Amino acid sequence: MKDALGQPQSVLVLGGSSDIARATMRLLVASRCERAVLAGPHAGRLDEAAAELRALGCPAVDTVAFDATNIAPLDAFVEKSFAGGDIDLVLVATGMLGDQQADEHDPIAAAQVISTNFTGPAATLLAIAARMRAQGHGRLVVLSSVAGERVRRSNFIYGSAKSGLDGFCQGLAASLAGSGVRLTVVRPGFVKTRMTDGMQPPPKPFTASADDVAVAIVRALGRNAGTVWVPAHLRWIMAVLRHLPTPVFRKLPG
Ligand SMILES: NC(=O)c1ccc[n+]([C@@H]2O[C@H](COP(=O)([O-])OP(=O)(O)OC[C@H]3O[C@@H](n4cnc5c(N)ncnc54)[C@H](OP(=O)(O)O)[C@@H]3O)[C@@H](O)[C@H]2O)c1
Repeated sequence: MKDALGQPQSVLVLGGSSDIARATMRLLVASRCERAVLAGPHAGRLDEAAAELRALGCPAVDTVAFDATNIAPLDAFVEKSFAGGDIDLVLVATGMLGDQQADEHDPIAAAQVISTNFTGPAATLLAIAARMRAQGHGRLVVLSSVAGERVRRSNFIYGSAKSGLDGFCQGLAASLAGSGVRLTVVRPGFVKTRMTDGMQPPPKPFTASADDVAVAIVRALGRNAGTVWVPAHLRWIMAVLRHLPTPVFRKLPG
């Protein structure tokens, strides 16, 4: 259960090795998160993230195998993840950018990007939401992206997958009204992480660090916010970009 200050004490992370997830977990452990379940496809990376949380003082840290592109073992995955009892917060940080230029000519690779960013997390969220409904409380925080707000030619495979996940989460959030379970969608812009390693960042006011996103997530938990933009001013920039006429939008850089 959440503590007296409303901070989650048990957290499940899909994409437990993600830089953004790790930064968020460091903050949550500092505010007394007592149990973490880290899920992802690479055991070595999960073990590294788990060791960091134990060193920071989290008393119980488990790792569970999770591959968003193969959700056949979904029931077993949910059982294992909740084996230690109720989970207060599920953070969904699963994602991959892919190689847009190459993937446009490789439908199987494109499907991998779409299932990692959309279909895998969405189906898993359904199973987790059902579990949280049954326990009668909980919070879902899902990493979407500004890339899904208006999909660009330069990354339309990743962007459309994020757009799908974002829309799915808005519908799921509405379906959870009155259940005791709430969902927050987080829409970061460019974040300097392993995912964007080697990419040219946009100018400073449009670039965030994993720590910036973590702070925004923890703040959102306190505020019960439904949607979070990081940096916050992206909300207004995207409101304009979203309504630009298509010929003008297509001429924008990036
Ligand atoms: N970085 C950005 O600019 C940015 C901007 C907006 C939104 N986001 C979103 O924020 C989230 C976290 O990203 P990040 O920047 O922290 O990147 P990251 O460090 O690369 O994290 C990506 C995570 O996804 C996991 N993953 C990859 N393929 C998977 C699969 N098939 N099944 C399950 N998990 C899989 C990775 O696990 P392994 O480590 O085992 O591969 C890793 O934990 C993602 O959803 C991303 O789309 C990022």
